[in-house]
Amino acid sequence: MKKTVIDIRQSHIIGETDSRLFGSFIEHLGRAVYGGIYEPSHPLADHMGFRQDVLGMVKALHVPVVRYPGGNFVSGYHWEDGIGPKALRPRKKELAWKCIEPNWIGIDEFQEWAKRAETEIIMAVNLGTGTPEEAGNLVEYCNCDYDTYYVQKRRENGFEKPFGIHLWCLGNEMDGEWQICRKTPEEYARIACETAKIMKWTDPSIELIACGSSHAGMPTFGEWERCVLRECYPYIEYLSIHSYYGNQSGNTAEFLAKSLDMDAYIQETVRICDEIQEELQEEKKIYLAFDEWNVWFHSNGRDKEIAPWQIAPPLLEDIYTMEDALLTGCLMMTLMRNCSRVKIACLAQLVNVIAPIMTRNHGPAWAQTIYYPFLHASLYGRGRVVEVSCQCESYTTESHANVPELETLAVIQDEKTLTVFIVNRSGQNSYQTEFHGTEGYQLESHIAMYHDDIKAENTEACPDAVTPCIVEPQNRGILMPYSWNVLRFLSRTE
Ligand code: AHR
Repeated sequence: MKKTVIDIRQSHIIGETDSRLFGSFIEHLGRAVYGGIYEPSHPLADHMGFRQDVLGMVKALHVPVVRYPGGNFVSGYHWEDGIGPKALRPRKKELAWKCIEPNWIGIDEFQEWAKRAETEIIMAVNLGTGTPEEAGNLVEYCNCDYDTYYVQKRRENGFEKPFGIHLWCLGNEMDGEWQICRKTPEEYARIACETAKIMKWTDPSIELIACGSSHAGMPTFGEWERCVLRECYPYIEYLSIHSYYGNQSGNTAEFLAKSLDMDAYIQETVRICDEIQEELQEEKKIYLAFDEWNVWFHSNGRDKEIAPWQIAPPLLEDIYTMEDALLTGCLMMTLMRNCSRVKIACLAQLVNVIAPIMTRNHGPAWAQTIYYPFLHASLYGRGRVVEVSCQCESYTTESHANVPELETLAVIQDEKTLTVFIVNRSGQNSYQTEFHGTEGYQLESHIAMYHDDIKAENTEACPDAVTPCIVEPQNRGILMPYSWNVLRFLSRTE
Protein backbone atom coordinates (compact mmCIF):
# COMPACT_ATOMS: atom_id res chain seq x y z
CA MET A 1 0.00 0.00 0.00
CA LYS A 2 1.26 3.51 -0.87
CA LYS A 3 1.28 6.31 1.66
CA THR A 4 -0.01 9.80 1.01
CA VAL A 5 0.00 13.01 3.01
CA ILE A 6 -3.03 15.18 2.36
CA ASP A 7 -2.42 18.71 3.54
CA ILE A 8 -5.53 20.83 4.06
CA ARG A 9 -4.78 24.58 4.03
CA GLN A 10 -7.81 25.82 5.91
CA SER A 11 -6.86 29.48 5.66
CA HIS A 12 -6.28 29.33 1.87
CA ILE A 13 -9.83 29.77 0.68
CA ILE A 14 -10.48 29.17 -3.01
CA GLY A 15 -14.11 30.28 -2.86
CA GLU A 16 -17.59 29.50 -1.67
CA THR A 17 -19.64 26.96 -3.61
CA ASP A 18 -22.92 28.35 -4.89
CA SER A 19 -25.67 25.85 -4.07
CA ARG A 20 -26.72 26.03 -7.74
CA LEU A 21 -23.57 24.03 -8.62
CA PHE A 22 -25.59 20.96 -7.67
CA GLY A 23 -28.30 21.55 -10.26
CA SER A 24 -29.68 19.25 -12.92
CA PHE A 25 -31.70 19.23 -16.12
CA ILE A 26 -34.93 17.78 -17.48
CA GLU A 27 -35.63 17.98 -21.20
CA HIS A 28 -38.64 16.87 -23.20
CA LEU A 29 -36.51 14.06 -24.57
CA GLY A 30 -36.95 10.30 -24.46
CA ARG A 31 -38.47 9.15 -21.18
CA ALA A 32 -37.24 12.06 -19.03
CA VAL A 33 -40.69 13.63 -18.67
CA TYR A 34 -43.12 10.96 -19.92
CA GLY A 35 -42.27 7.76 -18.04
CA GLY A 36 -39.72 9.57 -15.89
CA ILE A 37 -41.18 12.28 -13.69
CA TYR A 38 -44.73 11.88 -15.09
CA GLU A 39 -46.63 8.62 -15.54
CA PRO A 40 -50.28 8.99 -14.54
CA SER A 41 -51.02 5.27 -14.82
CA HIS A 42 -48.16 4.30 -12.48
CA PRO A 43 -49.28 2.88 -9.10
CA LEU A 44 -47.08 5.44 -7.34
CA ALA A 45 -48.34 8.47 -9.29
CA ASP A 46 -50.01 11.29 -7.36
CA HIS A 47 -53.21 13.00 -8.52
CA MET A 48 -51.22 15.10 -11.00
CA GLY A 49 -49.52 12.03 -12.48
CA PHE A 50 -46.09 12.64 -10.90
CA ARG A 51 -44.22 9.53 -9.80
CA GLN A 52 -43.67 9.69 -6.07
CA ASP A 53 -40.78 7.23 -6.13
CA VAL A 54 -38.90 9.48 -8.57
CA LEU A 55 -39.79 12.60 -6.59
CA GLY A 56 -38.40 10.99 -3.44
CA MET A 57 -35.10 10.19 -5.15
CA VAL A 58 -34.85 13.71 -6.62
CA LYS A 59 -35.57 15.30 -3.23
CA ALA A 60 -32.88 13.16 -1.62
CA LEU A 61 -30.37 14.72 -4.03
CA HIS A 62 -31.25 18.26 -2.85
CA VAL A 63 -31.15 19.60 -6.41
CA PRO A 64 -31.53 23.38 -6.05
CA VAL A 65 -32.20 24.16 -9.73
CA VAL A 66 -33.47 22.17 -12.71
CA ARG A 67 -33.07 23.45 -16.27
CA TYR A 68 -36.15 22.98 -18.45
CA PRO A 69 -37.54 22.21 -21.12
CA GLY A 70 -34.33 21.74 -23.17
CA GLY A 71 -31.74 21.26 -24.56
CA ASN A 72 -32.13 20.86 -28.29
CA PHE A 73 -35.89 20.43 -27.80
CA VAL A 74 -36.34 24.07 -26.84
CA SER A 75 -35.21 25.36 -30.24
CA GLY A 76 -38.45 24.12 -31.81
CA TYR A 77 -40.78 24.49 -28.83
CA HIS A 78 -43.65 26.96 -28.62
CA TRP A 79 -44.48 27.23 -24.96
CA GLU A 80 -48.12 28.14 -25.59
CA ASP A 81 -48.62 24.60 -26.96
CA GLY A 82 -48.11 23.36 -23.40
CA ILE A 83 -50.69 25.43 -21.52
CA GLY A 84 -54.48 25.33 -21.19
CA PRO A 85 -56.82 22.31 -21.25
CA LYS A 86 -54.81 19.17 -22.01
CA ALA A 87 -57.38 17.88 -24.50
CA LEU A 88 -56.87 20.97 -26.65
CA ARG A 89 -53.09 20.90 -26.69
CA PRO A 90 -51.53 20.12 -30.07
CA ARG A 91 -49.60 16.94 -30.74
CA LYS A 92 -46.50 18.12 -32.60
CA LYS A 93 -43.59 16.65 -34.53
CA GLU A 94 -40.47 17.31 -32.51
CA LEU A 95 -37.55 17.81 -34.86
CA ALA A 96 -34.62 17.82 -32.44
CA TRP A 97 -35.09 14.18 -31.43
CA LYS A 98 -37.50 13.05 -34.22
CA CYS A 99 -40.28 12.26 -31.77
CA ILE A 100 -43.92 13.14 -31.18
CA GLU A 101 -44.49 15.72 -28.43
CA PRO A 102 -47.99 15.33 -26.94
CA ASN A 103 -47.69 18.45 -24.73
CA TRP A 104 -49.22 16.69 -21.73
CA ILE A 105 -46.70 18.57 -19.59
CA GLY A 106 -45.96 22.26 -20.02
CA ILE A 107 -44.77 25.05 -17.79
CA ASP A 108 -47.91 24.93 -15.58
CA GLU A 109 -47.41 21.29 -14.68
CA PHE A 110 -43.63 21.48 -14.55
CA GLN A 111 -43.63 24.28 -12.00
CA GLU A 112 -46.00 22.13 -9.90
CA TRP A 113 -43.51 19.28 -10.13
CA ALA A 114 -40.62 21.63 -9.27
CA LYS A 115 -42.42 22.77 -6.12
CA ARG A 116 -42.89 19.15 -5.06
CA ALA A 117 -39.24 18.40 -5.86
CA GLU A 118 -38.20 21.44 -3.77
CA THR A 119 -36.26 22.91 -6.63
CA GLU A 120 -36.25 26.07 -8.76
CA ILE A 121 -36.62 26.13 -12.51
CA ILE A 122 -33.97 27.47 -14.91
CA MET A 123 -36.19 28.20 -17.89
CA ALA A 124 -34.82 28.14 -21.42
CA VAL A 125 -36.45 30.15 -24.21
CA ASN A 126 -36.65 29.19 -27.88
CA LEU A 127 -34.16 31.15 -29.98
CA GLY A 128 -34.32 28.65 -32.87
CA THR A 129 -37.83 28.91 -34.34
CA GLY A 130 -38.95 31.27 -31.55
CA THR A 131 -39.00 35.05 -31.46
CA PRO A 132 -37.85 37.61 -28.89
CA GLU A 133 -41.49 38.56 -28.41
CA GLU A 134 -42.49 34.97 -27.62
CA ALA A 135 -39.72 34.82 -25.00
CA GLY A 136 -40.95 38.07 -23.45
CA ASN A 137 -44.49 36.72 -23.36
CA LEU A 138 -43.28 33.67 -21.47
CA VAL A 139 -41.59 35.88 -18.88
CA GLU A 140 -44.86 37.81 -18.56
CA TYR A 141 -46.87 34.57 -18.19
CA CYS A 142 -44.53 33.20 -15.54
CA ASN A 143 -43.46 36.21 -13.55
CA CYS A 144 -45.79 39.19 -13.88
CA ASP A 145 -48.74 40.26 -11.82
CA TYR A 146 -50.49 42.98 -13.79
CA ASP A 147 -53.69 42.92 -15.80
CA THR A 148 -52.47 41.88 -19.23
CA TYR A 149 -53.23 39.12 -21.72
CA TYR A 150 -50.60 36.57 -20.65
CA VAL A 151 -51.07 37.20 -16.95
CA GLN A 152 -54.83 36.72 -17.44
CA LYS A 153 -54.12 33.50 -19.31
CA ARG A 154 -52.10 32.17 -16.39
CA ARG A 155 -54.92 33.08 -14.02
CA GLU A 156 -57.48 31.37 -16.28
CA ASN A 157 -55.29 28.29 -16.17
CA GLY A 158 -55.60 28.25 -12.39
CA PHE A 159 -52.46 30.06 -11.26
CA GLU A 160 -53.24 33.31 -9.53
CA LYS A 161 -49.72 33.88 -8.25
CA PRO A 162 -46.70 34.29 -10.56
CA PHE A 163 -44.28 31.36 -10.70
CA GLY A 164 -41.32 33.63 -9.95
CA ILE A 165 -38.73 32.04 -12.25
CA HIS A 166 -35.46 33.84 -11.67
CA LEU A 167 -32.95 32.25 -14.06
CA TRP A 168 -33.42 32.08 -17.82
CA CYS A 169 -31.36 30.64 -20.69
CA LEU A 170 -31.25 32.55 -23.98
CA GLY A 171 -31.61 29.49 -26.21
CA ASN A 172 -29.52 26.34 -26.29
CA GLU A 173 -26.29 25.37 -28.11
CA MET A 174 -27.06 27.80 -30.92
CA ASP A 175 -23.67 27.18 -32.61
CA GLY A 176 -24.40 23.48 -33.24
CA GLU A 177 -25.15 22.13 -36.71
CA TRP A 178 -27.65 19.79 -34.97
CA GLN A 179 -29.61 22.72 -33.55
CA ILE A 180 -32.98 23.68 -35.05
CA CYS A 181 -32.19 27.05 -36.71
CA ARG A 182 -28.51 27.15 -35.81
CA LYS A 183 -26.99 30.64 -35.83
CA THR A 184 -23.68 32.20 -36.74
CA PRO A 185 -22.00 34.02 -33.82
CA GLU A 186 -23.25 37.37 -35.14
CA GLU A 187 -26.81 36.12 -35.69
CA TYR A 188 -27.00 34.63 -32.21
CA ALA A 189 -25.41 37.63 -30.54
CA ARG A 190 -28.01 39.94 -32.08
CA ILE A 191 -31.10 37.88 -31.27
CA ALA A 192 -29.82 37.07 -27.76
CA CYS A 193 -29.24 40.75 -27.05
CA GLU A 194 -32.66 41.88 -28.31
CA THR A 195 -34.43 39.01 -26.53
CA ALA A 196 -32.58 39.80 -23.31
CA LYS A 197 -33.78 43.40 -23.49
CA ILE A 198 -37.43 42.40 -23.92
CA MET A 199 -37.19 39.79 -21.14
CA LYS A 200 -35.57 42.18 -18.68
CA TRP A 201 -37.92 45.03 -19.55
CA THR A 202 -40.75 42.60 -18.74
CA ASP A 203 -39.19 41.50 -15.45
CA PRO A 204 -36.04 43.41 -14.41
CA SER A 205 -35.36 41.02 -11.54
CA ILE A 206 -34.47 38.01 -13.71
CA GLU A 207 -30.94 36.78 -14.46
CA LEU A 208 -29.89 35.65 -17.92
CA ILE A 209 -27.56 32.97 -19.26
CA ALA A 210 -26.30 33.42 -22.83
CA CYS A 211 -25.11 30.46 -24.89
CA GLY A 212 -21.41 29.90 -25.07
CA SER A 213 -20.02 27.24 -27.40
CA SER A 214 -21.59 23.78 -27.29
CA HIS A 215 -18.23 22.35 -26.31
CA ALA A 216 -14.55 23.24 -26.37
CA GLY A 217 -14.00 21.44 -29.70
CA MET A 218 -16.41 23.62 -31.67
CA PRO A 219 -14.64 25.34 -34.61
CA THR A 220 -15.94 28.74 -33.45
CA PHE A 221 -14.97 28.30 -29.75
CA GLY A 222 -13.46 31.61 -28.63
CA GLU A 223 -14.72 33.63 -31.57
CA TRP A 224 -18.32 32.75 -30.53
CA GLU A 225 -17.79 33.78 -26.90
CA ARG A 226 -16.13 37.08 -27.84
CA CYS A 227 -18.87 37.99 -30.29
CA VAL A 228 -21.71 37.11 -27.86
CA LEU A 229 -20.07 38.93 -24.96
CA ARG A 230 -19.37 42.09 -26.98
CA GLU A 231 -23.03 42.30 -27.96
CA CYS A 232 -24.80 41.07 -24.83
CA TYR A 233 -22.46 42.01 -21.94
CA PRO A 234 -24.73 44.56 -20.20
CA TYR A 235 -27.77 42.29 -20.37
CA ILE A 236 -26.45 38.94 -19.14
CA GLU A 237 -25.05 37.56 -15.90
CA TYR A 238 -23.76 34.16 -17.09
CA LEU A 239 -22.29 32.45 -20.13
CA SER A 240 -23.13 28.78 -20.55
CA ILE A 241 -20.69 25.98 -21.27
CA HIS A 242 -21.52 22.34 -21.97
CA SER A 243 -19.44 19.19 -22.09
CA TYR A 244 -19.98 15.44 -22.17
CA TYR A 245 -17.27 12.84 -21.68
CA GLY A 246 -17.08 9.27 -22.92
CA ASN A 247 -14.82 6.24 -22.89
CA GLN A 248 -15.29 5.21 -26.51
CA SER A 249 -11.73 3.82 -26.69
CA GLY A 250 -12.10 1.72 -23.55
CA ASN A 251 -9.02 3.32 -21.97
CA THR A 252 -9.83 3.85 -18.28
CA ALA A 253 -6.72 5.90 -17.47
CA GLU A 254 -7.44 8.28 -20.33
CA PHE A 255 -11.14 8.48 -19.45
CA LEU A 256 -10.51 9.27 -15.78
CA ALA A 257 -8.18 12.09 -16.81
CA LYS A 258 -10.95 13.91 -18.65
CA SER A 259 -11.79 16.10 -15.67
CA LEU A 260 -8.54 17.91 -16.59
CA ASP A 261 -10.15 18.79 -19.92
CA MET A 262 -13.15 20.23 -18.07
CA ASP A 263 -10.81 22.32 -15.96
CA ALA A 264 -8.94 23.65 -19.02
CA TYR A 265 -12.24 24.49 -20.73
CA ILE A 266 -13.41 26.47 -17.70
CA GLN A 267 -10.08 28.32 -17.42
CA GLU A 268 -10.08 29.28 -21.08
CA THR A 269 -13.69 30.50 -21.01
CA VAL A 270 -13.03 32.56 -17.87
CA ARG A 271 -9.99 34.07 -19.59
CA ILE A 272 -12.14 35.12 -22.55
CA CYS A 273 -14.83 36.62 -20.27
CA ASP A 274 -12.21 38.67 -18.45
CA GLU A 275 -10.55 39.75 -21.69
CA ILE A 276 -13.89 41.14 -22.96
CA GLN A 277 -14.65 42.70 -19.57
CA GLU A 278 -11.42 44.64 -19.86
CA GLU A 279 -11.97 45.52 -23.50
CA LEU A 280 -15.45 46.90 -22.75
CA GLN A 281 -14.33 48.47 -19.46
CA GLU A 282 -17.27 46.79 -17.75
CA GLU A 283 -17.43 46.61 -13.97
CA LYS A 284 -19.31 43.38 -13.51
CA LYS A 285 -17.81 39.96 -14.05
CA ILE A 286 -19.55 37.36 -16.18
CA TYR A 287 -19.90 34.05 -14.36
CA LEU A 288 -20.17 30.61 -15.94
CA ALA A 289 -23.20 28.33 -16.00
CA PHE A 290 -21.91 24.83 -16.81
CA ASP A 291 -25.50 23.93 -17.50
CA GLU A 292 -24.92 20.58 -19.21
CA TRP A 293 -22.25 18.14 -18.10
CA ASN A 294 -22.06 14.38 -17.70
CA VAL A 295 -20.73 11.12 -19.07
CA TRP A 296 -22.52 10.28 -22.33
CA PHE A 297 -21.56 7.59 -24.83
CA HIS A 298 -23.06 4.21 -23.84
CA SER A 299 -26.36 4.73 -25.66
CA ASN A 300 -25.04 6.34 -28.85
CA GLY A 301 -25.16 3.15 -30.94
CA ARG A 302 -28.48 1.88 -29.57
CA ASP A 303 -30.22 5.20 -30.23
CA LYS A 304 -29.61 4.83 -33.98
CA GLU A 305 -31.85 1.73 -33.95
CA ILE A 306 -34.84 3.49 -32.35
CA ALA A 307 -37.67 4.23 -34.78
CA PRO A 308 -38.53 7.92 -35.14
CA TRP A 309 -41.83 9.68 -34.45
CA GLN A 310 -42.79 7.92 -31.23
CA ILE A 311 -43.92 9.47 -27.96
CA ALA A 312 -41.21 9.09 -25.31
CA PRO A 313 -38.96 6.39 -26.85
CA PRO A 314 -36.06 5.17 -24.67
CA LEU A 315 -33.44 7.58 -26.03
CA LEU A 316 -30.06 8.37 -24.44
CA GLU A 317 -30.53 5.73 -21.77
CA ASP A 318 -26.90 5.33 -20.75
CA ILE A 319 -26.38 2.63 -18.14
CA TYR A 320 -23.53 3.85 -15.98
CA THR A 321 -20.63 1.88 -14.57
CA MET A 322 -18.36 2.22 -11.55
CA GLU A 323 -15.83 3.85 -13.87
CA ASP A 324 -18.38 6.50 -14.85
CA ALA A 325 -19.08 7.22 -11.18
CA LEU A 326 -15.34 7.86 -10.65
CA LEU A 327 -15.21 10.40 -13.47
CA THR A 328 -18.45 11.98 -12.19
CA GLY A 329 -16.73 12.45 -8.81
CA CYS A 330 -13.70 14.05 -10.51
CA LEU A 331 -15.95 16.34 -12.60
CA MET A 332 -17.91 17.42 -9.51
CA MET A 333 -14.64 18.27 -7.76
CA THR A 334 -13.51 20.26 -10.80
CA LEU A 335 -16.71 22.30 -10.72
CA MET A 336 -16.40 22.92 -6.98
CA ARG A 337 -12.73 23.91 -7.31
CA ASN A 338 -13.76 26.51 -9.89
CA CYS A 339 -16.53 27.85 -7.67
CA SER A 340 -15.28 31.41 -7.78
CA ARG A 341 -16.39 31.61 -11.45
CA VAL A 342 -18.70 28.63 -12.04
CA LYS A 343 -21.86 29.55 -10.17
CA ILE A 344 -24.34 27.21 -11.82
CA ALA A 345 -23.92 23.65 -13.05
CA CYS A 346 -26.49 21.13 -14.26
CA LEU A 347 -25.86 17.41 -14.32
CA ALA A 348 -27.49 16.49 -17.63
CA GLN A 349 -29.87 15.01 -17.09
CA LEU A 350 -31.91 13.88 -14.08
CA VAL A 351 -34.22 10.98 -15.00
CA ASN A 352 -33.79 8.22 -17.65
CA VAL A 353 -31.97 10.39 -20.20
CA ILE A 354 -28.21 10.19 -19.39
CA ALA A 355 -29.36 10.31 -15.80
CA PRO A 356 -28.59 9.31 -12.23
CA ILE A 357 -32.18 8.04 -11.80
CA MET A 358 -33.66 5.28 -13.98
CA THR A 359 -37.24 4.05 -14.15
CA ARG A 360 -39.14 1.27 -15.80
CA ASN A 361 -42.55 2.28 -17.17
CA HIS A 362 -45.10 0.79 -14.73
CA GLY A 363 -42.11 -0.53 -12.78
CA PRO A 364 -39.49 0.54 -10.26
CA ALA A 365 -37.05 3.44 -10.06
CA TRP A 366 -33.43 2.94 -9.09
CA ALA A 367 -30.16 4.82 -8.65
CA GLN A 368 -27.40 4.53 -11.22
CA THR A 369 -23.76 4.52 -10.09
CA ILE A 370 -23.35 8.23 -10.82
CA TYR A 371 -26.18 9.05 -8.41
CA TYR A 372 -23.86 8.58 -5.44
CA PRO A 373 -20.96 10.98 -6.08
CA PHE A 374 -23.51 13.59 -7.12
CA LEU A 375 -25.50 12.97 -3.92
CA HIS A 376 -22.42 13.24 -1.69
CA ALA A 377 -21.20 16.40 -3.41
CA SER A 378 -24.64 17.95 -3.08
CA LEU A 379 -24.95 17.03 0.59
CA TYR A 380 -21.40 17.76 1.74
CA GLY A 381 -19.94 20.09 -0.91
CA ARG A 382 -21.67 23.32 0.08
CA GLY A 383 -19.32 25.72 1.79
CA ARG A 384 -15.82 27.10 1.54
CA VAL A 385 -13.46 25.26 -0.78
CA VAL A 386 -9.92 25.36 0.62
CA GLU A 387 -6.59 24.46 -0.93
CA VAL A 388 -5.35 20.89 -0.58
CA SER A 389 -2.02 19.43 -1.53
CA CYS A 390 -1.49 15.74 -1.89
CA GLN A 391 1.57 13.69 -2.76
CA CYS A 392 0.78 10.69 -4.89
CA GLU A 393 1.85 8.83 -8.00
CA SER A 394 0.90 10.31 -11.35
CA TYR A 395 0.56 8.92 -14.86
CA THR A 396 0.74 10.08 -18.44
CA THR A 397 -1.54 9.05 -21.30
CA GLU A 398 -1.62 9.90 -24.98
CA SER A 399 -3.66 13.06 -24.29
CA HIS A 400 -2.84 13.93 -20.67
CA ALA A 401 0.46 14.47 -18.87
CA ASN A 402 1.04 14.16 -15.12
CA VAL A 403 -2.43 13.02 -14.10
CA PRO A 404 -2.40 12.63 -10.30
CA GLU A 405 -3.66 9.24 -9.16
CA LEU A 406 -5.55 10.99 -6.37
CA GLU A 407 -8.02 13.75 -7.16
CA THR A 408 -8.80 15.65 -3.94
CA LEU A 409 -10.97 18.51 -2.77
CA ALA A 410 -11.73 19.90 0.70
CA VAL A 411 -14.80 21.88 1.74
CA ILE A 412 -15.42 23.50 5.12
CA GLN A 413 -19.20 23.31 5.38
CA ASP A 414 -19.66 25.27 8.56
CA GLU A 415 -17.42 25.87 11.54
CA LYS A 416 -18.00 22.27 12.63
CA THR A 417 -17.60 20.15 9.52
CA LEU A 418 -14.82 19.59 7.02
CA THR A 419 -15.31 17.18 4.13
CA VAL A 420 -12.55 15.78 1.96
CA PHE A 421 -13.54 14.16 -1.35
CA ILE A 422 -11.02 11.84 -3.01
CA VAL A 423 -11.07 9.75 -6.18
CA ASN A 424 -8.35 7.14 -6.50
CA ARG A 425 -7.77 6.92 -10.26
CA SER A 426 -5.39 4.00 -9.90
CA GLY A 427 -6.56 0.44 -10.43
CA GLN A 428 -3.39 -0.96 -8.80
CA ASN A 429 -2.48 1.28 -5.90
CA SER A 430 -4.37 1.63 -2.68
CA TYR A 431 -3.30 4.49 -0.41
CA GLN A 432 -3.01 4.96 3.33
CA THR A 433 -3.75 8.62 4.05
CA GLU A 434 -2.23 10.87 6.65
CA PHE A 435 -3.97 14.22 7.07
CA HIS A 436 -2.19 17.47 7.90
CA GLY A 437 -3.98 20.72 8.64
CA THR A 438 -6.95 19.06 10.28
CA GLU A 439 -5.99 20.18 13.78
CA GLY A 440 -9.11 20.77 15.81
CA TYR A 441 -11.02 18.16 13.85
CA GLN A 442 -11.42 14.42 14.16
CA LEU A 443 -12.23 11.98 11.40
CA GLU A 444 -15.84 11.07 12.01
CA SER A 445 -16.74 8.94 9.03
CA HIS A 446 -15.45 7.59 5.75
CA ILE A 447 -17.89 6.72 2.97
CA ALA A 448 -16.38 4.78 0.07
CA MET A 449 -17.61 3.33 -3.19
CA TYR A 450 -15.63 0.78 -5.22
CA HIS A 451 -16.16 -2.53 -6.96
CA ASP A 452 -13.94 -5.40 -8.13
CA ASP A 453 -15.34 -4.88 -11.61
CA ILE A 454 -14.93 -1.31 -12.81
CA LYS A 455 -17.59 -1.96 -15.43
CA ALA A 456 -20.18 -3.01 -12.80
CA GLU A 457 -23.52 -1.20 -13.13
CA ASN A 458 -26.85 -0.95 -11.34
CA THR A 459 -29.78 -2.41 -13.25
CA GLU A 460 -33.46 -3.04 -12.60
CA ALA A 461 -32.61 -6.66 -11.70
CA CYS A 462 -29.63 -5.67 -9.57
CA PRO A 463 -30.16 -2.06 -8.43
CA ASP A 464 -27.63 -2.24 -5.59
CA ALA A 465 -24.65 -3.78 -7.38
CA VAL A 466 -22.64 -0.58 -6.86
CA THR A 467 -23.47 1.42 -3.75
CA PRO A 468 -21.42 3.32 -1.18
CA CYS A 469 -20.44 1.73 2.12
CA ILE A 470 -19.42 3.10 5.49
CA VAL A 471 -15.79 2.17 6.06
CA GLU A 472 -15.07 0.37 9.36
CA PRO A 473 -13.24 2.62 11.90
CA GLN A 474 -10.00 0.58 11.66
CA ASN A 475 -9.90 1.05 7.87
CA ARG A 476 -10.82 4.71 7.73
CA GLY A 477 -8.46 6.70 5.54
CA ILE A 478 -7.54 3.74 3.31
CA LEU A 479 -8.29 4.53 -0.31
CA MET A 480 -9.05 1.41 -2.32
CA PRO A 481 -8.04 1.16 -6.01
CA TYR A 482 -10.57 2.81 -8.31
CA SER A 483 -12.57 4.29 -5.44
CA TRP A 484 -14.74 7.29 -4.61
CA ASN A 485 -14.23 8.50 -1.02
CA VAL A 486 -15.88 11.04 1.26
CA LEU A 487 -14.07 11.69 4.55
CA ARG A 488 -16.00 13.74 7.08
CA PHE A 489 -14.19 15.53 9.90
CA LEU A 490 -16.04 17.10 12.83
CA SER A 491 -14.73 19.84 15.06
CA ARG A 492 -13.49 18.46 18.40
CA THR A 493 -15.06 21.32 20.29
CA GLU A 494 -18.59 20.03 19.50
O1 AHR B 1 -28.57 16.55 -22.93
C1 AHR B 1 -28.73 16.04 -24.20
C2 AHR B 1 -28.48 17.07 -25.30
O2 AHR B 1 -27.11 17.41 -25.29
C3 AHR B 1 -29.15 18.41 -25.14
O3 AHR B 1 -30.43 18.41 -25.67
C4 AHR B 1 -28.28 19.32 -25.91
O4 AHR B 1 -28.30 20.63 -25.44
C5 AHR B 1 -26.89 18.68 -25.85
O5 AHR B 1 -26.33 18.57 -27.09
